[in-house]
Amino acid sequence: METEKAIMGRRSVRDYMDKPVPEEIAQQILKAGAMAPSAMDKQPCRFIVISDRKKMGELSKKVKDRLGMLGFGARLAERMKVKEDVIFYGAPLLILIAAGRGDEWAAIDCSLAAQNMMLRAYDLGLGSCFIGFARMLNKDEEALRGLGIKDSQELYCPLIFGYPKEWPHPKVREAKVQESIG
Ligand SMILES: Cc1cc2nc3c(=O)[nH]c(=O)nc-3n(C[C@H](O)[C@H](O)[C@H](O)COP(=O)(O)O)c2cc1C
Repeated sequence: METEKAIMGRRSVRDYMDKPVPEEIAQQILKAGAMAPSAMDKQPCRFIVISDRKKMGELSKKVKDRLGMLGFGARLAERMKVKEDVIFYGAPLLILIAAGRGDEWAAIDCSLAAQNMMLRAYDLGLGSCFIGFARMLNKDEEALRGLGIKDSQELYCPLIFGYPKEWPHPKVREAKVQESIG
């Protein structure tokens, strides 16, 4: 697929078919993440791949509980009436990107990997969504340990992938050029 088509067509998907992502497709998405640029080519991203529904359900609950503590409870409860899993939207694949805690470039490095992965997923016929809420897991040491995320690491980019029930329409966005000098 042309890069332009992927960039213009990708949207966040929040409704997925009950169909697993084949291992070779997941590998291609991971490869796209690995190919992203990183500061000083340190390649700090570590990928945690989860396709176990039970595990995802547990993580979803932990995130929801944390959000509830922050007062997102009522709004989430409202959304719960429409969707069973308001965090991971029933996606069959969750990939968490972790890197060094306190590393000044880590958030940027992981985000570049994340965008590569979401575009590649689109290219392969899959939907995706960045789930920032799931960064709440950083506040849960036990959850991080259970995911194999070390004390020296932080979770930067949680991403879901899967086959969309429906593709959201592409959006048109314009660059907000603040200054054009020269
Ligand atoms: C840093 C970041 C955090 C996000 N967190 C969430 C989230 O927790 N839940 C969610 O449903 N979407 C989340 N999104 C998706 C955005 O809502 C989405 O990208 C935005 O509305 C634009 O829509 P599009 O991706 O379809 O172009 C996040 C996106 C980014 C970049």
